[in-house]
Amino acid sequence: MSNTEISVLENITQILGYRPDFFGCDLRDMKQLEEIFEKYDFDGVVHFAGLKSPRESCDRANEYFDNNITWSLKLFACMEKYGVMKIIFSSSAAIYSTQGMHKKGLDENADIWNTNHPYGSTKLILENILWDLAKFSWFQVISFRYFNPIWAHTSWLLWENPVWIPNNLFPYIMKVASGDLDYISVFGNDYNTHDGTGIRDYIDVNDLVRGHILWYEYFDTIGQNVACFEVFNLWTWLWISVIEAITSVSNVLWKDISYVFEDRRLGDLAEVYCNPMRAKNILWWTSKVTLDESIKNTLYYHKISA
Ligand SMILES: NC(=O)c1ccc[n+]([C@@H]2O[C@H](COP(=O)([O-])OP(=O)(O)OC[C@H]3O[C@@H](n4cnc5c(N)ncnc54)[C@H](O)[C@@H]3O)[C@@H](O)[C@H]2O)c1
Repeated sequence: MSNTEISVLENITQILGYRPDFFGCDLRDMKQLEEIFEKYDFDGVVHFAGLKSPRESCDRANEYFDNNITWSLKLFACMEKYGVMKIIFSSSAAIYSTQGMHKKGLDENADIWNTNHPYGSTKLILENILWDLAKFSWFQVISFRYFNPIWAHTSWLLWENPVWIPNNLFPYIMKVASGDLDYISVFGNDYNTHDGTGIRDYIDVNDLVRGHILWYEYFDTIGQNVACFEVFNLWTWLWISVIEAITSVSNVLWKDISYVFEDRRLGDLAEVYCNPMRAKNILWWTSKVTLDESIKNTLYYHKISA
């Protein structure tokens, strides 16, 4: 829970109508992990836990390898021990090669051999391990490569509210719009893009949730005791630059949002966006929420009126 607060549990309880069982368990605590697996007859695991800042991972590579890889291995061992073979894994766009990033509309077969930072490497290594677990230990694996999940749950009870100053673009823009922060730094305005700022692909978190549920149901279609390893880009066609992101919020709110240009950041790339057609063709999943809807949904949390 290094990036959230326990109060979130109350809001989840309100949405569900009951309090879900909850254990504040660090994956490093194998004893507690095993106790939890012992107590429940789990059907599968959705593995979101991990450190996730590309920039931070450049300074703390070993910590990222240890936390994201070593302790995931313990989780996989625990799953195998208790016969829990289904896993949905949060991978990332960060696994695509630096070279690949300059291609437009990357699909799942694009190069993944040369990640740009240790965080990306942790996801790449874990995907490879899961691939082997599918081949040799009968795991059923779905790995989602998503990039910039944004915004809030439609209940208005859950929203992106990082404990620290946000690492991600849109929460940062909203904090400037609400007056919590003075301005946003735009890192690099000399990239080879139409306005010089970096281009990314964003996905509304409600679309992301729908994707996870849909894909979990997909396991039922392949049946028990059939190994599988599937990878999907869980992205949209919503490719916009940093300046366009700031302008889109500004236009919805009718409010100026201050920004300053700064030097490029280590580990950042000019353009990162993919082709989500595999998800559409195989599972009939496409994103539904528009950027304007996403922005409007989130105003409430930031106490901003449009
Ligand atoms: N948000 C994004 O932009 C993004 C993009 C691509 C992939 N992902 C991946 O999706 C997953 C969820 O992302 P998020 O945005 O919700 O991140 P988050 O930081 O909000 O949540 C991740 C949580 O995992 C917990 N965690 C880390 N190491 C742990 C450990 N050893 N044991 C137990 N808990 C541990 C952290 O305390 C944190 O609360 C992560 O694996 C991330 O790498 C996120």
